[in-house]
Amino acid sequence: MKVSFYGHVRQYHSIKSEIDAKIQKVLESGEYVQGPMLKHFEAELAAFSGTKHAIGVGNGTDAIWLALMALGIGPGDEVITHPNTFFATAEAIWIAGATAVFVDCCAKTKCIDPARIEAAITPNTKAIIPVHLYGQCADMRAIKKIADKHKLRLIEDNAQAIGAKGPDFNIGELSDAATVSFIIQKNLGTFGDGGALVTNNDEMDHKVRKLRNHGSNRRNIHSFGFNSRLDDLHAGILSAKLKHIHAWNDLRRKWAARYTAGLKGAKHFTLPCEMPGYRHVFHLYVIETKKPEQRDSLVKFLVDNGVDAKTHYSIAIHKQPGFPWGKGARIVGGVANAEHNAACCVSLPMFPELTEQEVDYVIAKVMEWDKAQK
Ligand SMILES: Cc1ncc(COP(=O)(O)O)c(C=O)c1O
Repeated sequence: MKVSFYGHVRQYHSIKSEIDAKIQKVLESGEYVQGPMLKHFEAELAAFSGTKHAIGVGNGTDAIWLALMALGIGPGDEVITHPNTFFATAEAIWIAGATAVFVDCCAKTKCIDPARIEAAITPNTKAIIPVHLYGQCADMRAIKKIADKHKLRLIEDNAQAIGAKGPDFNIGELSDAATVSFIIQKNLGTFGDGGALVTNNDEMDHKVRKLRNHGSNRRNIHSFGFNSRLDDLHAGILSAKLKHIHAWNDLRRKWAARYTAGLKGAKHFTLPCEMPGYRHVFHLYVIETKKPEQRDSLVKFLVDNGVDAKTHYSIAIHKQPGFPWGKGARIVGGVANAEHNAACCVSLPMFPELTEQEVDYVIAKVMEWDKAQK
């Protein structure tokens, strides 16, 4: 049996008529950039998020640095995040011209550890970017307390957790903005690149709308800005898919529960945890081998047996060759949990359109590997 890592085409086929109708509508409208479909999708995304505004942009990376720039954060400023996120979180801080400050992640959730943040704060610290890694929210209540105490801005990197929730908070509720990525492999993905910010902050909304469109919100009137817009074709595809996101996340949760039940007796790796009261949306189902030297052996065994396993992310940002490329960067305290995560992570196939047979085959192969370990 072969089990692929993604199910993009299966998903397209499952709602083909809805997606095709949206594409057709955009094509026939004659308006493809900042047209009616983008407006329509932005309104739907804001309603979905429970925020006042949603602004479509070119991709999830741009969403982060546009939010930083809209907050006036740039050269001389420091922004705290953690080094086991996808590279783009730090990249966006550098694009804004600021210094990336890395603290460790929580050993359980792999999201930023709130207990590590205060030690990293200096007079230059301006913001914290928690990442809702793998589909589970960071501890936003604890992070918000720290941000308020030190008068720091908060941007949630929500590339991986659309539809997730905390026990008593929604994404976008406690921050200046939450940023989203719509690259195809995300829980809500278009056929290409796309991104958005959701925010309750009117000034953020106004500034990002201008910044994404060459510094313009009126024809021929410009200030400094960029070109980073979400195309109407992508907005149409995303509008069709948004209606299904809760059901698709439920399926991800169902496959995650099946993996967890099938793998719970294993001796040589640990399983992902869902914190009490949280809704984890399992963008990724990541197990960790107990020993770093076992990781590549597990990935190879799975790939040799037809299971497309991957690693997210096997080189922590501060361990990338050439780090930090002349950009501002600091590491505060040890980052042992993040390094362990990088060294030991293995992502199993995870997408809503998986079948029971496929999930059970993955479980059987992972357990076969586990039993063969000394
Ligand atoms: C945590 C995280 N942040 C940021 C991004 C950047 O998003 P994009 O690829 O749309 O630029 C991604 C995904 O690619 C991500 O996983």
